[in-house]
Amino acid sequence: MKHIPVLLTEVLQTLGDIKNRTVVDCTFGAGGYTRAFLECGANVIAFDRDTNVVEDANKIKQEYGDRFQFINSAFSDIKNLNPADFDDVVFDLGISSMQIDNGERGFSFRFDAPLDMRMDTRNKQNAQNLIESLSENDLADILYEYGDIKSSHKMAHILKEHKPTTTFELRDLIKNQKDIAPVFQALRIAVNDEMGQIKSALESVHNMLSSNGRCICVTFHSLEDRIVKNTFHKWTQTDGDPRLPTVKNAEYVSLKTFTPSEKELEQNPRSRSAHMRGVQKV
Ligand SMILES: C[S@@+](CC[C@H](N)C(=O)[O-])C[C@H]1O[C@@H](n2cnc3c(N)ncnc32)[C@H](O)[C@@H]1O
Repeated sequence: MKHIPVLLTEVLQTLGDIKNRTVVDCTFGAGGYTRAFLECGANVIAFDRDTNVVEDANKIKQEYGDRFQFINSAFSDIKNLNPADFDDVVFDLGISSMQIDNGERGFSFRFDAPLDMRMDTRNKQNAQNLIESLSENDLADILYEYGDIKSSHKMAHILKEHKPTTTFELRDLIKNQKDIAPVFQALRIAVNDEMGQIKSALESVHNMLSSNGRCICVTFHSLEDRIVKNTFHKWTQTDGDPRLPTVKNAEYVSLKTFTPSEKELEQNPRSRSAHMRGVQKV
């Protein structure tokens, strides 16, 4: 299934007039956001660590030439850009429909495949290696933290004992049906260091964004959303008592937060857990 961009209208509305601005699209995916930004007259620098999207990125490059640049690496590499080269930054986190629906990549328990789950297949560690290399306690922590698995120690013990190598082997080890999706999700988040990536990239953006620059994040998981919410909260707080002359003014202001409308939920049920937050540098 082709990826349907989530909260795109709200992202565009929050970015405002981007004609002649340069937007960093940190999560190219199917290029839905990138195309929309280009069509609004912006220049785009896009990141994606999945090598499978390179072909789509090349097609956009052919159409838009120098207005579009694609970087096939993790968005934490945004730290290597020159801050003078971009104005706004957008993240549309999580995985794409192409990744979930590609049966060979091991993200989904609907297809039998090697237990992989790497967004970037150039990285060494996949889900099978992760289960094998972690201690039972560390594996339990991941299942608890990223999947909210209540019996995480029991689950970790079963995984360490049976060492699943395929999605179906893993699925069949999970006796409690309602834990299947959360266990897959927890392993995927750990394999791809999803929380570490967003923390590191936001830290870079904080130091790099120039005056009036906007940073927008669309999240799909409560932990991810909490990181974004707390980070933006810190950026928009004044330091000390605002009535005192020594107070440090906040560097950022908050922008309106959005969740999908009824209409979007109806048209694209995969948008159901999405939250959009944004800030603007003053
Ligand atoms: C939800 S999709 C983005 C969809 C895109 N906005 C669109 O409209 O087509 C997320 C994409 O981000 C990529 N991604 C996730 N985390 C990443 C990271 N840390 N660095 C680079 N790409 C990442 C995934 O590979 C995936 O292709």
